Amino acid sequence: MGVERVQEIANFSKETIPEEFIRTTYEQPALTTVQGTVLEVPVIDLSDPDEEKVVRAIVDASSNWGMFQVVNHGIPHETVRKLKEVGKAFFELPPHEKEAYAKSPGSQSIEGYGTKLQREVEGKKAWVDHLFHKIWPPSEINYQFWPKNPPSYRKNNEEYAKHMHGVVDKLFRCLSLGLGLDGNEMKEAMGGDNMVYLLKINYYPRCPRPDLALGVPAHTDMSAITILVPNDVQGLQACKDDHWYDVEYIPNALIVHIGDQVEIVSNGKYKSVLHRAKVNKEKTRISWPVFVEPPPDLEVGPHPKLVNEANPPKFESKKYSQYCFCKLNKTPK
Ligand code: OGA
Ligand code: NI
Repeated sequence: MGVERVQEIANFSKETIPEEFIRTTYEQPALTTVQGTVLEVPVIDLSDPDEEKVVRAIVDASSNWGMFQVVNHGIPHETVRKLKEVGKAFFELPPHEKEAYAKSPGSQSIEGYGTKLQREVEGKKAWVDHLFHKIWPPSEINYQFWPKNPPSYRKNNEEYAKHMHGVVDKLFRCLSLGLGLDGNEMKEAMGGDNMVYLLKINYYPRCPRPDLALGVPAHTDMSAITILVPNDVQGLQACKDDHWYDVEYIPNALIVHIGDQVEIVSNGKYKSVLHRAKVNKEKTRISWPVFVEPPPDLEVGPHPKLVNEANPPKFESKKYSQYCFCKLNKTPK
């Protein structure tokens, strides 16, 4: 094993935290969050029959924020509640039961239980443990990374995956129409029905110094879009116009992030959002992002209908797997 889980570190961190979790002053949330003004991330009602209005709202949010929340999205609240219940129960198992799902050190795959995703600048660590596994399409699922305990883990996750398609299709349709493309063209550019849904559970234990540490440092998601549900502990922050703002959770909303691939296909019209996550002094934060991604071998680039002499491509076309490799290894794009 040899890896220290943050959940264990948190158990013996009563007043202070190990030095490697203390962020530089450029990153410490207490010093870098805009206080007093709560800039609200747009909230969009997906059930509104006026589709043009929904498209306008999504275009506006995706161009200016790269992030929005959707309500009346069609995923039953009970389905979301059950997804969260089993994920939380997994992280509350004793360590040896969780370690059975640990990512093996040399593994190429991202799937499994783990603690450190990538090397970070200045060797700082993030106050979080995670579990990654794919939930769609069925042919891509590795059940070895799905907890067998609690017993309803599988059923509840399958149910969530099944209900996601409606939201995903609606979002891609609106994003596509908003670029002047046909309704299906954005989804097709991402691999159509071969898109992969990768679930991550972030488990951020209580932290005695939430002013100094970060759960997840600033990043943009590599995915096409990310659809996230949080537990009831606030902590997600979005960067807008070079300032960090708390994202206020709306009960039962899904939080949508525009990822790098949508920014690329839109040739920069939509922006992938720079975001990060804080931790909490009294409560464990948990979040369930699903990264909706192109299949690894699909080449993604600015949509041909959006580029011409006046609008040259702003991004190189690349296989999605290659894009991820370059970003994780910080090699030039
Ligand atoms: C992520 C992420 C934010 C959160 O895992 O990519 O941005 O609120 N998480 O957990
Ligand atoms: Ni993210």
